Amino acid sequence: MKFKHIVTSTVLATAFIGNIAQADITLRHAIQGTELDMSFAKKGGDTPAFKEFMKDGRNPYNTDKEAIEHGESLYMTGCSGCHGHEAEGKLGPGLADDYWTYPAIATDKGLFEILFGGANGMMGPQYGNFNTDEMLQIMAWIRSIYTGKPKKAKWLKK
Ligand code: HEC
Repeated sequence: MKFKHIVTSTVLATAFIGNIAQADITLRHAIQGTELDMSFAKKGGDTPAFKEFMKDGRNPYNTDKEAIEHGESLYMTGCSGCHGHEAEGKLGPGLADDYWTYPAIATDKGLFEILFGGANGMMGPQYGNFNTDEMLQIMAWIRSIYTGKPKKAKWLKK
């Protein structure tokens, strides 16, 4: 949409000149490095929490008990079959420890990119299964069961 483009560039230009507002993050596919097409996103995920995440790549639900609980049940429905009920690993790797095939997972942005865009083989994109807000909730649950070294928990760092 042309109009949208104009508005976006104006906003960006203003942010640059005035040096205000943090630039929004750019989400990329974990393997291909191409920008993720957010137009595939399921409806209903553009919540205040997701908007906040898009500003700095940090998951505001990490400290939200209710979101973590809801994330757990979403995980049981959509992920546990391959990653195990305690994220201990099954067909897919364990998600609670600090070994990641994709080291970017140590940041919330990196974890989201894998969920939304997928990785190799059976780890397909999840945008058809969960909306972006639900993905953040699942991510918060995964962080809540972390058993790895605190030093490697980059998502906790300011
Ligand atoms: C059909 C099976 C399947 C389902 C369903 C599935 N995954 Fe995966 N997942 C995999 C496989 C296999 C890999 C390894 C892919 C790779 O190495 O590229 C993987 C990789 C991952 C990784 C990267 C792990 C690492 O060590 O870097 C994350 C994170 C992940 N999955 C999270 C999830 C979450 C969260 C869900 C639910 C929303 C989910 N997956 C659903 C099979 C699955």
